[in-house]
Amino acid sequence: MFITFEGPDGSGKTYQLAIFADYLKDKGYPVLTTREPGGTSIGDQIRDVLHDMNNTEMRPHTEILLYQASRAQLVEQVIVPHLKSGGIILCDRYADSTLAYQGYGHQLNLKKLAALIDFATRGLTPDLSLLLDVDVGEGLRRRARGGEWNRLDAYDLDFHQRVRKGYHELVRQEPQRWVVIDAGQPPERVQADIRKFVMERLAKSG
Ligand code: TMP
Repeated sequence: MFITFEGPDGSGKTYQLAIFADYLKDKGYPVLTTREPGGTSIGDQIRDVLHDMNNTEMRPHTEILLYQASRAQLVEQVIVPHLKSGGIILCDRYADSTLAYQGYGHQLNLKKLAALIDFATRGLTPDLSLLLDVDVGEGLRRRARGGEWNRLDAYDLDFHQRVRKGYHELVRQEPQRWVVIDAGQPPERVQADIRKFVMERLAKSG
């Protein structure tokens, strides 16, 4: 099963994913965690370029292609082999981040983005996607407090609002794939919701 964690910046998804992965491992599930951009040696190098605060001249089209390059490597090197061996993948961001950030955030053509994503992933889509939904202002305040500020966090508030709305639109288009979790709750409540929804889904998938 291929599960992705999505959400606006500061939603706490990275922290929640790590705790949930430990929970699944304790139960004996063959879990592999990974993240985007990154997750491979090549992908991590691409991540550094994308996040570098000095790369202020980076254009949206460059950004898109770098994300797809990182993703193509991750799919082929890590995700597909693990799924083929019967394992569970928990991925911190995936293709929906491109649609939310580059598509809705930067307002680039969604159909063209979908074609690029399809090329990079060879059509691999998640079985389940969790949207850790949080108020944009609160999310950015959390990021700033945590000292994790990167080049993308520095886009203006309107950009981040469009990203959040974009996620809601993606959920509306494919409600069967998504679970929306209120990430404004205390962390232990967020984790409880994740466990409840994912364990239900795992039980159904046999
Ligand atoms: P994160 O590792 O803290 O989630 O940061 C990754 C940043 O990259 C975040 O601001 C979202 C952004 N991003 C995109 O804009 N497009 C993408 O396709 C991906 C995977 C991430």
